[in-house]
Amino acid sequence: MNRLILLLPVLLITCTTKKQEQTGFLADSAMVVSAHPLASQVGADIMRKGGNAVDAAIAVQFALAVVYPAAGNIGGGGFMLVRFADGKTDALDYREKAPSAAHPNMYLDENGNPIPLLSSRGHRSAGVPGTVAGLVEAHNKYGRLPWAELVQPAIELARKGFPLTALEAKGLNGAAEDFKKYNTVLPEHLIRQEGWKEGDTIRHTDLAATLERIRDNGKAGFYEGKTADDIINEMKRGNGLITYEDLKNYKAIWRTPVEGHYKGYKIISMPPPSSGGVALLQLLQVTENFPIAAWGHNSVKTAHLMIEAERRVYADRAKYLGDPDFVHVPLAALLSNEYNDSRMESFNPDKATPSSAVSHGTIPGYESEQTTHLSVVDPQGNAVAVTTTLNDSYGSHVVVAGSGFILNDEMDDFSVKPGVPNMYGAIGGEANKILPNKRMLSSMTPTIVEKNGKLFMVVGTPGGTTIITSVYQTILNVIEHGMTMQEAVTARRFHSQWMPDIVVNEKSAFSEKDSLKLVEMGHTFRYRRAIGRVDAILVRDDGKLEGGADPRGDDTAAGF
Ligand code: GLY
Repeated sequence: MNRLILLLPVLLITCTTKKQEQTGFLADSAMVVSAHPLASQVGADIMRKGGNAVDAAIAVQFALAVVYPAAGNIGGGGFMLVRFADGKTDALDYREKAPSAAHPNMYLDENGNPIPLLSSRGHRSAGVPGTVAGLVEAHNKYGRLPWAELVQPAIELARKGFPLTALEAKGLNGAAEDFKKYNTVLPEHLIRQEGWKEGDTIRHTDLAATLERIRDNGKAGFYEGKTADDIINEMKRGNGLITYEDLKNYKAIWRTPVEGHYKGYKIISMPPPSSGGVALLQLLQVTENFPIAAWGHNSVKTAHLMIEAERRVYADRAKYLGDPDFVHVPLAALLSNEYNDSRMESFNPDKATPSSAVSHGTIPGYESEQTTHLSVVDPQGNAVAVTTTLNDSYGSHVVVAGSGFILNDEMDDFSVKPGVPNMYGAIGGEANKILPNKRMLSSMTPTIVEKNGKLFMVVGTPGGTTIITSVYQTILNVIEHGMTMQEAVTARRFHSQWMPDIVVNEKSAFSEKDSLKLVEMGHTFRYRRAIGRVDAILVRDDGKLEGGADPRGDDTAAGF
C-alpha cells in the first residue's frame, strides 16, 4: 500500500522521450563552464590574456561570488583539483573549519536533541571561511598572471552592477525573509521591496570594496584589517564563534588526489575531507564488472545495480569518512578491489536490499544544496576542476555588514549528533563529529578523467550528498552509454544514499514500465525537480573541447 502511494508521483512524472543527438558548446583550445554566463566569460577573457587554467579558475570563483551569491563565495570554502598538461596533479583543500570554540554538543539542547536550524542558519552555523586563503595559495603556487588582474573583473561586476537572471531573481526573492530574520544589519542591496525580476541591475558596493582589499593585500585583505573587523563585529552581534585568531590561523592545505581506474580510464578526484573522491571511486569499482553498456542507460538492471552500490558506499561514508587531520580514514582499504567486491556479496539482482539490513563494511585494523562547480581547460592543456560552497543556498543568510559578503552555514555538514540526519538527510558518526578547528566532511567531487594518459574529462557539480552520484552518472553516461558531454549532463538523474532508504529521481529519469518494475523490486521513489548542476568539459577524439553546461541552471560554457 505504502509503496503504491509512493509510486503514484513516479508514474505521473514519467514519460518517454525520443533521443536527440545534442552536442554542447565547442572550442578549439580553451574553455570554462560555470554556473553563470558572466563568470564563464571572465574566465575565457583571462585565458585570452595569457592566463592559465588556475588563473582562470581563480577569476571565475571571484566573479561567481558577485554574480551568483547563492553559492559563489568568498565567505565559504572549496576544493581545487588540478591536472597539468604533463600529467602532474595536485589538490587544494580550502574547506571551512570549525571555530576553535566549537564543541560536539554545540547544536544540542539540554536534553541532547538538535536545536532546529542552529547549524544551518545564522551566525553560529558559519565555519571559518577558506576561499580567499585557497585562491591566494593556488595563485602563489601555480598562477601566471598578476593577482590583481584576477580579482579586478569581479570588482568591476560588483561596482558597476549586472542584470539578474530569472533564476537568480527568484532565488533572492525566496531568500528575502531569511535575510531579514538572520541579519542584525539589513542587507538592503539584496532585498527589493517589490521583488527582484529578471533584468534588474544589482550592485554589490561593499563587496566591491572588500574585493579591492583582497586585490591589494591578498590573504590579509580578508583575514585581517577591516574585513576581519567586520566579521568579528558580525559574530559579536549575532552570537557567533569565529575569532580573530581563527581567521589568522586559517590555512589552505595541499593534498594528494585519490586515483583509481575504470575500464582503462584513470579517475582523479578529491581526497578527504571530501568523501566525494573516495565514494566515486568505490562506486565505479563496484560497477566495473557489470555489463551496464549492454543493459542501457537508466534501465531496470542498470538503475538497480547503481542504487544497490550507492546504498553500500554511503553506509561506508557515514562510518569512515572525516577530516584526515583528525581521524584515520582507511583509504587504501576502502579503495581496494577486494573490499569493494566483498561489499557486493549481499547484492541480489532481483530485489532491493533494505538499507536497515546494510551496514558499513568491516575493515581490518537533499534541494537547496547550493554549492557550485566550474571546469576549466586552458590552451596548454592544463585542467582545473573547482567545487566551492556556502553549503545551503545563500549559506547562513548572514551578510557581513560593511563587507557585503555572505557567510557559509557549513557547520551543518558535521554530524551534529551521531545518527541524526543533516539537511541532506545524511547520517554521520564519530568520524565526522564536531571538534575545534576540524574540517567538516564534504561530498564535493571535483574530478578529472584521463584516457590513454591524456586529459579526457573535467567534471563536477553542486548538490550536497547527491554530488557524488551525479558525477558518477555523468562519467558512466559518456564512457558506458556513448553520450556527448552535453547529453551526459542533460540526462535525467536519480540518487540514493543508504539512509533515508529512498531513491530520489528527476522527471522522466525512468520509463513508466521501468519505474513500476523497480518499485516491485522493493525500491521506494521520491520525485525531485532537479538533482545537481553538472558543469563539465570533454576532450573529443578530434581534439576539440566540448562543454556540458547544465540546463537546470544558468550554466554556460565560454571559450575559444
Ligand atoms: N556543503 C556540501 C558539501 O560540501 O558536500
